[in-house]
This record gives sequence, C-alpha cells and structure tokens, in this order.
Amino acid sequence: MKHLIAPSVLAADFGNLQRDIEMLNQSAAEWIHVDVMDGLFVPNISFGFPVMETLRKHAGKPLDVHLMITDPDRYVERFAQAGASVITVHYEACTHLHRTIEAIQGAGCRAGVALNPHTPVQLLQDILPMLDLVLIMSVNPGFGGQKFIPNTYKKIAELCRLPGAKDSLIIEVDGGVDSGNIAALRKAGAHAFVAGSAVFSAPDPAAMIAELNQIASI
Ligand code: DX5
Ligand code: ZN
Repeated sequence: MKHLIAPSVLAADFGNLQRDIEMLNQSAAEWIHVDVMDGLFVPNISFGFPVMETLRKHAGKPLDVHLMITDPDRYVERFAQAGASVITVHYEACTHLHRTIEAIQGAGCRAGVALNPHTPVQLLQDILPMLDLVLIMSVNPGFGGQKFIPNTYKKIAELCRLPGAKDSLIIEVDGGVDSGNIAALRKAGAHAFVAGSAVFSAPDPAAMIAELNQIASI
C-alpha cells in the first residue's frame, strides 16, 4: 500500500489557519490530521466544531479526525456531518467499541482505532476485520512536540502479523514523527504518517512535507 503524510493542524498557527490550510492544499500531504481533545480523556483541550467548520470550508483534502475524547459515540454523527472522512477513536475511551465502529461506518466514514503506548495491539484481534485504520500512538496523546517512543516499531510489526485484517487496512503512526524516524516506521509496516511540529516548526513547512513524503517512499 502507498504511504501518505497527514500533517496535524494542532501545530498550525490558528491566527492564520486559512493560510496554513492553503499551504497544506498545495503540498504533498494526502490527508489533514485533526486532533480533537476534550480535557478529560487527555489532559489538554484543543478545539471542536467551529474549527472543523473552517477546515471543512477551506481544506481540499480528506480530514483525518483523531478523537481523543471520552465516549466518542456521542459525537460520531456530528463529526461525520462536519466533514470527517476518517474518524479514529481510542480503544481506551470506548466501552462498546464494536458499536462505535459500526456507527462511524454507518455515518459514511472510514473507521479507525487508536492505541495508547501502553495498549497492546493484540487487544484488537476480535475487532480487526472491521477496521479501516489502526493508529499507533508513538507518544502519550494530549500534546504536540513530544519525544517519539521507540517501542512503536515493535508494535507496528506485531500489528502487521495479526490475522484477519482487511487488505486495505491502513496503519497510521502519530507522535514525534520526523525525517529521522519515518523511513524506519515505513519499513516496520506503517502507511500513514502524522506530523505536527516536524512540519509546522520547519522553516518551509511545504518543503518538509515533500521531504517526509520522499523519505517514506523508499
Ligand atoms: C498528540 C496528537 C498528535 C500531535 C502530533 O496527542 O495526537 O497528532 O499533533 O504532534 P507531533 O508531530 O508534534 O508529535
Ligand atoms: Zn493525532
């Protein structure tokens, strides 16, 4: 499967959000990653529907929505209506994960499950055949700019070996991804690469996206 870069708008300049989205539209990014935090599941609050509205209005690429919220079932429908293409929920935040995945797909979106660094991939065994995407967190969720956790490589490789996944399953990695680890992550078996600070703190963010895309294609 082809790789793809999903820059995270969490690291964008919210005073110039339209400008930053236009940059992403013109760049080698395939998706736009949208980090929604509720201050409960994670110790930080990011943004909600008003920002989704701006993204929907200006983004020319699929919105990859990562819900770091407790009981995401409550908001699946609204995020679908707000323009999400992919909705990813946390394994740790769902009591009835099977029902949540059905709701996401029933709303016309691709469904993903995210795993915190401490959550083993084997817990996905029974739900894996339903999933369109698995997001391996390579930092503890809640903040951009954190240090990459190297155990991620092993988790990606283990996930690749689990039976029952769709051929089209996308393995996404999120947190501390940069030009120094993206090749090894690709080799381990990941397809989709979220990058926040690596992109937006670069002097030329579009050039950094192109560079990440280029390195991941080897
Ligand atoms: C962390 C978020 C990430 C974050 C990545 O909770 O899920 O998507 O924006 O940012 P960097 O690339 O700076 O680690
Ligand atoms: Zn994310």
